[in-house]
Amino acid sequence: MPNVLVVYYSRSGNTASMAKSIAAAIAEEGLVVECKKVEDADIDELLDVDGLVVGSPTYYGTMAAEIKKFLDDSVRHHGKLDGKAGAAFASAAVTGQETTVISILEALLIHGMIVQGDPRGHHYGVTSLGKPGEQDLERCKRFGKRFAELVKRIAGE
Ligand SMILES: Cc1cc2nc3c(=O)[nH]c(=O)nc-3n(C[C@H](O)[C@H](O)[C@H](O)COP(=O)(O)O)c2cc1C
Repeated sequence: MPNVLVVYYSRSGNTASMAKSIAAAIAEEGLVVECKKVEDADIDELLDVDGLVVGSPTYYGTMAAEIKKFLDDSVRHHGKLDGKAGAAFASAAVTGQETTVISILEALLIHGMIVQGDPRGHHYGVTSLGKPGEQDLERCKRFGKRFAELVKRIAGE
């Protein structure tokens, strides 16, 4: 069974709420999923996952320092994540959420990870403003479901 790690940083709960909704949707597709605060995640876990989803609040238009550190630490496994599925999501108060998603995707792409856009939903990765509402959490579910389908395709299931 393919497995996915959803890792996120959240100071006031908005990104955490998105992460939980995304992880639940991935689990509904039958995948094994762990949803962890970045503080609790071990960089060596990346070696064992088929898919990695990274979420951050928007801090000055980019990812929080805690997520940047996690990605910088992932250099330890540079070359070993090639071909795994990757995705990113972000929360913001007003704006900058898409540049935050892209900043995370840049690192995942440099790892050689496979990233899928969305022609109908949020193109780069799911985002929301402020406390996620019902529609935001629905978007998170769509994002999680599509990510799970991608992971299954890559795993040949
Ligand atoms: C240091 C800092 C910088 C921030 N920069 C931005 C920003 O550039 N644009 C924005 O819309 N919100 C910004 N925010 C607001 C957060 O992105 C927003 O409140 C987010 O929903 C917090 O997510 P969390 O509840 O998961 O911590 C910033 C907040 C902090 C603490």
